[in-house]
Amino acid sequence: MLTRKFHIPPITGTILLLALVYFLWQIHWTGPTHSGHPVHTNPWSGGSTAGGRHQRIAIITFITDQKSYIHLSLKNKAHYVKRHGYDLIVDYESHSTRGTTWLKFDMVERLINANQHDWIWWMDFDTLITNTTIKVEDIINESLANSTAPADVDFLVTNDCNGLNDGSFIVRSHSRSIFFLNHIRDLHDREQRKGNSLNDQESMRDFLKSEDALVRHAHRVPQWMLNAFPEEIKCYDDYNRGWEKGAFLVHFAGAWAHVEGDDPTGELMRKYEGEVIWGPDLDEGFL
Ligand SMILES: *[C@@H]1O[C@H](CO)[C@@H](O)[C@H](O)[C@H]1NC(C)=O
Ligand SMILES: *[C@@H]1O[C@H](CO)[C@@H](O)[C@H](O)[C@H]1NC(C)=O
Ligand SMILES: *[C@@H]1O[C@H](CO)[C@@H](O)[C@H](O)[C@H]1NC(C)=O
Repeated sequence: MLTRKFHIPPITGTILLLALVYFLWQIHWTGPTHSGHPVHTNPWSGGSTAGGRHQRIAIITFITDQKSYIHLSLKNKAHYVKRHGYDLIVDYESHSTRGTTWLKFDMVERLINANQHDWIWWMDFDTLITNTTIKVEDIINESLANSTAPADVDFLVTNDCNGLNDGSFIVRSHSRSIFFLNHIRDLHDREQRKGNSLNDQESMRDFLKSEDALVRHAHRVPQWMLNAFPEEIKCYDDYNRGWEKGAFLVHFAGAWAHVEGDDPTGELMRKYEGEVIWGPDLDEGFL
């Protein structure tokens, strides 16, 4: 009786086997990354496709001390990734030996090694995405389309009035990018031995000015498109264009040098919060 009741016809067995294989395949592709940080994946994400498939994008940032605008900055980034099916990865402690801010390169390297994304977008914490409709993959696509050798482009970077500003840049998730970062770190270490202490931005800036053959892997994007500064911080690149209504992102770089008061960045973050175009309410139909 038992054998009869639990007898499985061959066809059902095949279906069960296929279901099991599918299940294991799903676990494999949506499992945790090597970084040990949960990566949020949105199965409903639509989005544009390049080469016929959705680009896997991670936005990464860190915040290592208390600020008045942590909720706003995180909410803004979390909303944006939810809207487009990207991932958001945030670190809260830096153990980077070259100094706190070098953590951004360490995070990029960790994400490349985790091999879960096509592109990684670093954003400083003092940023707001002010038009969440704009897809970062469209900016990537447009930049590649603008390049004469798109397959060589691994870094999308912007300038401000002082040259490179690394507060918002995009990296192709590829081992070649780690090689590039190692050259920037080497430059820092060489200068350090000469008693010259450069931060991550200065090291990257000087590396990009060098004759190194790897420099061709970096492509400049107009500042206003990826790293716009507000009118309070008029430190613009050659396009001389600041943040304006409907623009993608605003970055309050070095606000302390331009705005008075105890909390210049917080004040600007709250001022521009009202300019954010949030788009549809994502409470329903999303995770
Ligand atoms: C990317 O740009 C190319 C032109 O360079 C275009 O044909 C393609 O549709 C674009 N893809 C996306 C995702 O916008
Ligand atoms: C691409 O080039 C055009 C023409 O120079 C420019 O207007 C546009 O901002 C560029 N886009 C990117 C993403 O670099
Ligand atoms: C926000 O970006 C979208 C997509 O590029 C654009 O169509 C829209 O006009 C922008 N919003 C404003 C207020 O400019």
